[in-house]
Amino acid sequence: MSIFDETINRRCTNSVKWDAMEGIYGIQDASTILSMWIADMDFAPPMAVSTALQHHAANMVLGYNFVNAQTKQTVVDWQKNRHQWTIEKESVLFCNGVIPALANCITAFTNPGDKILISPPVYPPFAMIPKNNQREVVRCPLVEKDGTFVYDFEAFEQALAQDIKLYILCNPHNPGGYVWDEATLKEIVRLCAKYDVLIVSDEIHADLMLGDSTHLPLAKIAGDEINRIITCMAPTKTFNLAGIHIAYMIVTDKQKRTKLEALNMANGQGSINTFAPIALEAAYTEGVTWLDELLAYISNNMDYVIAELTAIEGIHIVKPQGTYLLWIDYRALNLDEKELMKRLLEVGQLALDPGTKYGEEGRGFLRMNVACSFDTIKDAVQRFKRVFQ
Ligand SMILES: Cc1ncc(COP(=O)(O)O)c(C=O)c1O
Repeated sequence: MSIFDETINRRCTNSVKWDAMEGIYGIQDASTILSMWIADMDFAPPMAVSTALQHHAANMVLGYNFVNAQTKQTVVDWQKNRHQWTIEKESVLFCNGVIPALANCITAFTNPGDKILISPPVYPPFAMIPKNNQREVVRCPLVEKDGTFVYDFEAFEQALAQDIKLYILCNPHNPGGYVWDEATLKEIVRLCAKYDVLIVSDEIHADLMLGDSTHLPLAKIAGDEINRIITCMAPTKTFNLAGIHIAYMIVTDKQKRTKLEALNMANGQGSINTFAPIALEAAYTEGVTWLDELLAYISNNMDYVIAELTAIEGIHIVKPQGTYLLWIDYRALNLDEKELMKRLLEVGQLALDPGTKYGEEGRGFLRMNVACSFDTIKDAVQRFKRVFQ
């Protein structure tokens, strides 16, 4: 028996994953729908996080707070221990989330009308945030090779040559779960340097490594080009704390840090929630065993889902190297996405993400979140099979 075997009922908790499906999927009643879409796990965070938060709440000291040096040191230690990456305390800037961090980088370092490059299929806010800030989004799609998506560096260079100001990298990749290797990362850095492009590296999934995969922070391998990189990380995806809203940027270039801090001041965004550093510290200092057990559990869920679903003719799934997301390829079945989504909801009573949410390049794919109890996984597999039979 694993702690992750417990099936927690998260309905009626204002959970986006469970309680917002009517709006998201345009349906009347989602009470019987099994939710496996947004990247939010159905597990309770490590007990140490709950204990620390309860302790803080019991104290009822809820006035203005600041993030102290110890919290920064905890981040430094986490990077060192988990990713063998040595960073300076001064380079850490806290914020309310990786999406706010992306938005801040875009507004601090580009102007309206500037071009921002992304590599779809990719996490939807990479296109939405620049667009909502009146930037032009240039798309250089990943290309398929041996069943997975990779960079086409010829096309990437051509795209960069179009006066791109900023590139948003997803490392590891959402939705594909690809953990980019050193050669790929070095080529990204080399080409961005050649065209003097700033890189925002979203590494929120960095801690979710499966099997013997190793996450390589882009800035760690960037050598002399380290100052053109802003790394965004968080404990929220790793420990299921998204509602706590904490993330951090690692910014080695002092000038860029000053600019980001000035932007925060201008927008009145100086501080983070009093519970956020408490949760981060508890997770990073006492959550390692929980995390290692989680990763083994997720890997097992994946193996089961892949074995069961790929037995259906026309379904292909490559096991990801990281994340808890499966990118399910049904292109061989030539099914219309809208029709399939309708059948998934009506026949399967199952909410997955349609591939085109990640860009047109995702057509013919579904994204399934397998971070839930094994009982739920078995239920999901039965529901999925009902749709395809
Ligand atoms: C690649 C990526 N970046 C950022 C986020 C969200 O970050 P935050 O909740 O810290 O804003 C997600 C959530 O799924 C994600 O997959």
